[in-house]
Amino acid sequence: MNRAHLVLGIETSCDDTSTAVLEDGRRLRSHLIAAQDVHRLYGGVVPELASRAHLELLPPLVERALAEAEIAASELTAVAVTRAPGLVGSLVVGVAFARAYGAALGIPVMGVNHIEAHLHAATLEHGESPLPAIALVVSGGHTELVEVRGFGRYRWLGSTRDDAAGEAFDKVAKLLGLGFPGGPAIERLAAIGDREAHAFPRPMLDRPDLDFSFSGLKTAVALAVDRLGPARTERQTADLAASFQAAVIDTLAGKTLRAVDAVGARSLAVGGGVAANRGLRERLARGCEERGIPLRVPSLRLCADNAAMIALLGSWLLERGDRWSDEDDVVASLEESGLPMG
Ligand code: KG4
Ligand code: ZN
Repeated sequence: MNRAHLVLGIETSCDDTSTAVLEDGRRLRSHLIAAQDVHRLYGGVVPELASRAHLELLPPLVERALAEAEIAASELTAVAVTRAPGLVGSLVVGVAFARAYGAALGIPVMGVNHIEAHLHAATLEHGESPLPAIALVVSGGHTELVEVRGFGRYRWLGSTRDDAAGEAFDKVAKLLGLGFPGGPAIERLAAIGDREAHAFPRPMLDRPDLDFSFSGLKTAVALAVDRLGPARTERQTADLAASFQAAVIDTLAGKTLRAVDAVGARSLAVGGGVAANRGLRERLARGCEERGIPLRVPSLRLCADNAAMIALLGSWLLERGDRWSDEDDVVASLEESGLPMG
């Protein structure tokens, strides 16, 4: 009998330190995510603090992932690590660790593109999506609309021109005096607010392209906050949150479903932290139901930044016979990360 392939996944691209062990590209034997709460003190991710925290958290999280998977390090087949895009200091911690670990064990180290991993994360729970698929990745750093024709075969349809969707939630939450990260706080408050209280713009929804822009919407919220003044009630804050969230959902869902129709997609996959938003999920679910195609949204742990999706892509790269050269360095930007974005 062939031995199982056991891939150790490592994710340190932003402010979550995560490790996972994936067996044969399918069975998640362990999966840990340590969120770095220190950034809450500053209302956003502080890069230096993030890399320092990765340095401290990563070794024990790797040990723990192996223990929970009930395997010894010597049983690993490969190490998969996020090499792009992300905060350079954070990426370097994960990559340096992975390279040293792989060298000590004499096993290959696979460098994984974080955004590509988000595109496929739903596979872990739902199996491979019917193709072509549309994938929407919405996180604190990205808003990407992509046609997926297969592993490594993508067509970029749209991105944000300014703020990412999650960033817009975070900035508006700050304007409203809510904590960081802003998405969950806005969603909670929006549930008791009136989504029609303010007619905020649906940026670029009337344009034929599939790009997004959220900074004008943020400005519209800021103006409304100013108009209400310091005596704003909790109820009024909830109305602002609900109206803002409705505008974001209308824009994201409108363009995503337009992409589904344009491509004749046979499934829709969503990833990134903003995919946790219930209103967005429900709207996309309705759109998919009307079109008779499956909506693939992973569970919350697999939507957020996580090492399971990194291990998955590492398994695929290994299977495809890719080797990562020692010269390949970490890359901060998506555009320069080597993904086929044509
Ligand atoms: O993918 P992710 O975990 O990591 C980074 O991009 O770093 O995404 C985090 C983002 C944050 O901007 C957060 O505000 C947003 O996802 N987010 C949400 C919700 N939960 C997290 N946005 C809207 N609704 C939510 N329920
Ligand atoms: Zn991410």
